[in-house]
Amino acid sequence: MKITIAQAAKYNEQEVTIGAWLANKRSSGKIAFLQLRDGTGFMQGVVVKNDVSEEIFQTAKNLSQETSIYITGKIVEDSRSKFGYEMQVSNIEVIHEAVDYPITPKEHGTEFLMDHRHLWLRSRKQHAIMKVRNEIIRATYQFFNDNGFVKVDPPILTGSSAEGTTELFHTKYFDEEAYLSQSGQLYMEAAAMALGKVFSFGPTFRAEKSKTRRHLIEFWMIEPEMAFVEHEESLEIQENYVSFIVQAVLENCKLELDVLERDTSKLESIKAPFPRISYDEAIELLKEKGFDDIEWGEDFGAPHETAIAESFDKPVFITNYPKGIKAFYMKPHPDRDDVVLCADLIAPEGYGEIIGGSQRIDDLELMQQRYEEHGLTGPAYEWYLELSKYGSVPHSGFGLGLERTVAWLSGVEHIRETIPFPRLLNRLYP
Ligand code: 4AD
Ligand code: MG
Repeated sequence: MKITIAQAAKYNEQEVTIGAWLANKRSSGKIAFLQLRDGTGFMQGVVVKNDVSEEIFQTAKNLSQETSIYITGKIVEDSRSKFGYEMQVSNIEVIHEAVDYPITPKEHGTEFLMDHRHLWLRSRKQHAIMKVRNEIIRATYQFFNDNGFVKVDPPILTGSSAEGTTELFHTKYFDEEAYLSQSGQLYMEAAAMALGKVFSFGPTFRAEKSKTRRHLIEFWMIEPEMAFVEHEESLEIQENYVSFIVQAVLENCKLELDVLERDTSKLESIKAPFPRISYDEAIELLKEKGFDDIEWGEDFGAPHETAIAESFDKPVFITNYPKGIKAFYMKPHPDRDDVVLCADLIAPEGYGEIIGGSQRIDDLELMQQRYEEHGLTGPAYEWYLELSKYGSVPHSGFGLGLERTVAWLSGVEHIRETIPFPRLLNRLYP
């Protein structure tokens, strides 16, 4: 019977075969402990000299790291391991011998590991991070499907910019100039007018010369957009969504969080509602915390966000930013012309902004005025104006950065470990 490590519990006390790689091993004269991995999980195989042929025992002792094998034996309970099961090995068939695998159990520098990302992904910690990432994606689809959203896929190649022109990746589209999408939002607004509540999930690109632990050049964003939904209602959906994915990861990634040594007590309390403070209040809070230089109208940097987050044990919404530091499409506050109906959601523990969102302008004249102020001209932008021309309605949306969320829930320092093959300022390899 060929099974996977993840299925081991169902085959307790049965003889099975698993296709695996040797992650690590320990052996003495009489016994060999093989750390096996097969993609679905990690499990120990025990080879006892007296229970197998001399040939099999020698094979086990000589297995080199990352050699691929078919390994056969009886699954038994193992109360000492978190996984709970191990294999009493009876046979080993080598598929392919790995010679001089470069990533050994000793410490390696980050640059070395990043150069070997295609292999580094096999390690236990990286495996755990990818499983957390997958669980967030799975829970995202579940949440939006359960709440009546339709998945819509905006284009990656675009003729317009959604978030300002300084961070665009330029490319040729035959004879035309095109860009890689910074955000699917404008297209998602069109989709919301057709389907009501929609969400997208796809890669987005920022040609930002930032080299921080929070910035990727290529990252994945979840962008919901909702017709007939105003700012406050959108915040409620955001906090429910974030609570849902946090609780899903706690529930379904117990082994992974353990491997990552994540302090889960900090995640258990992440339940809606989340606190909200206005940008004005955030400025006051920062001044109290000793940021004397910050002036009203300036954008927050990572140290500001971290300082604000420290005052709360849940993610915090900072609402109503000054119009001048936010995108052209955000709806002005009804009582104040200098701020817009928007919010950034700041994660706890210094992980920074994970969501940016807002209510959108739904008035044609105001939108035309913003076009002039922002110099948005040409056919690439004409279609978007038509959304406020034909049956315009109040609508809101937001974008959640997947990798920052993975970093927060996994508790990893740097965003480069949260995506399989990170695109960074100085890295397009592997
Ligand atoms: O705040 P941003 O730029 O918002 C938008 O793009 C809106 N159009 C979204 C919308 O309303 N539909 O980006 C949204 C989120 C950020 O909060 C952050 O989590 C993530 O995307 N993000 C990045 N993640 C990694 N690397 C980068 N360079 C990122 N830039 C933004
Ligand atoms: Mg933002």
